[in-house]
Amino acid sequence: VHQPMIAPSILSADFARLADEAVAVSGRDGAPGADWLHVDVMDAHFVPNLTLGLPVVKSLLAATDIPLDCHLMIDDPDRWAIGYAEAGAHNVTVHVEAAADPVRLARNLRAAGAKAGLSVKPGTPLEPYLDVLKEYDTLLVMSVEPGFGGQKFMAEVLDKVRTARRLVDTGHLRLLVEIDGGINAETIEAAAEAGVDCFVAGSAVYDATDPGRAVEALRGLAAT
Ligand code: DX5
Ligand code: ZN
Repeated sequence: VHQPMIAPSILSADFARLADEAVAVSGRDGAPGADWLHVDVMDAHFVPNLTLGLPVVKSLLAATDIPLDCHLMIDDPDRWAIGYAEAGAHNVTVHVEAAADPVRLARNLRAAGAKAGLSVKPGTPLEPYLDVLKEYDTLLVMSVEPGFGGQKFMAEVLDKVRTARRLVDTGHLRLLVEIDGGINAETIEAAAEAGVDCFVAGSAVYDATDPGRAVEALRGLAAT
């Protein structure tokens, strides 16, 4: 068992001050800080919302040392995801519902030097994708319908987390289990018990008066 990872989502940050918002969660006085910075890319097609894209990610990569966890909620990731890997994103996650050839996509992402992530919406089962998941480094389980921050945690996805955890612990899959949506001080312990390795938190971090302290508090709760 290793330390829980925390990935603050900048979706709830101040977009005019993104570099400062990254620094705010990067740790201070020797404290570890965020493991990854979660970047929600939305195209107003795969999801009804629009956020940011590759130019902003490139600027963030130049402005911070925190590894970027790019969550692409976009159509046609087979075409667009590679640019994020080539730019230097640590982890590039695509949606299985949007990818035409997720196996090839994972291989291309890894060949470009990134970790490859596969995300499933709350209603998408894992079972049809077990072979596909063998090609991936991260499984991102959505615990809200993708598109917006600040939504209510859907506890029913924890069954899927438990399934993934079991497959990893029995050696059938080798990946990090990440959860995204509605993670806060009230919900993170249940997610940790179900077997999550990495916790995305947007509003719980950036709506807090002290985002850095919020990261530490969440990590403490996930570790108990
Ligand atoms: C939602 C995004 C999430 C979002 C989470 O579609 O993928 O990363 O930022 O925000 P909270 O933690 O507020 O639910
Ligand atoms: Zn996300």
